[in-house]
Amino acid sequence: MLDLGCGEGWLARALAGHAIHVLGIDVVPALIHAAQCAGGGDFRVASYEDIAAGKYRFAIDAVVCKFSLLGKESVDGLCRAMPSLLKPRGSLMGQTLHPVAAGDDLPYEDGWRQGSWHGCGPDFTEPAPWYFRTLQSWQRLFADSGLRLLEMREPQHPVTRIPASIIFIAAKSA
Ligand SMILES: C[S@@+](CC[C@H](N)C(=O)[O-])C[C@H]1O[C@@H](n2cnc3c(N)ncnc32)[C@H](O)[C@@H]1O
Repeated sequence: MLDLGCGEGWLARALAGHAIHVLGIDVVPALIHAAQCAGGGDFRVASYEDIAAGKYRFAIDAVVCKFSLLGKESVDGLCRAMPSLLKPRGSLMGQTLHPVAAGDDLPYEDGWRQGSWHGCGPDFTEPAPWYFRTLQSWQRLFADSGLRLLEMREPQHPVTRIPASIIFIAAKSA
């Protein structure tokens, strides 16, 4: 499995116990260093832009992007490169902010939004902006990238029942 935007690599360590080998990639060297120290998979510093530029060759069973599809051009380019990373029957699993629940009261249209560390404590400062996409826009991006959307899941907050995130599962178009 390829974990794009792996951060400190917790997913690789969680999956190692299930005999799933993970290669984690992130653009922040300090995060990759922390991941390498903690172990549980292979970790490399690289950017989505590097991947979109074809600097790496992969043939992967599954690509996962967990809360790491946050930019505009970087994510557009990464999605377009996605079919070239996957084996013929490989799949992409992307989890991100649910556009309906995370939209605040702003118009329901694509655009950059202010980030927030609400609920994360005082150690978290200077939230990064993120690029909001409507459901229609996600769907179009996958289709334009040669990916077939197989499934969308909307895990709910157990108390409020508001969608806590959205999960896209996609495969290479035939
Ligand atoms: C919110 S964190 C999520 C980290 C991890 N997936 C998790 O679930 O804890 C987003 C990660 O995506 C990485 N990222 C964002 N844009 C990137 C890019 N253009 N190239 C590589 N990594 C990127 C960031 O460095 C960050 O570690």
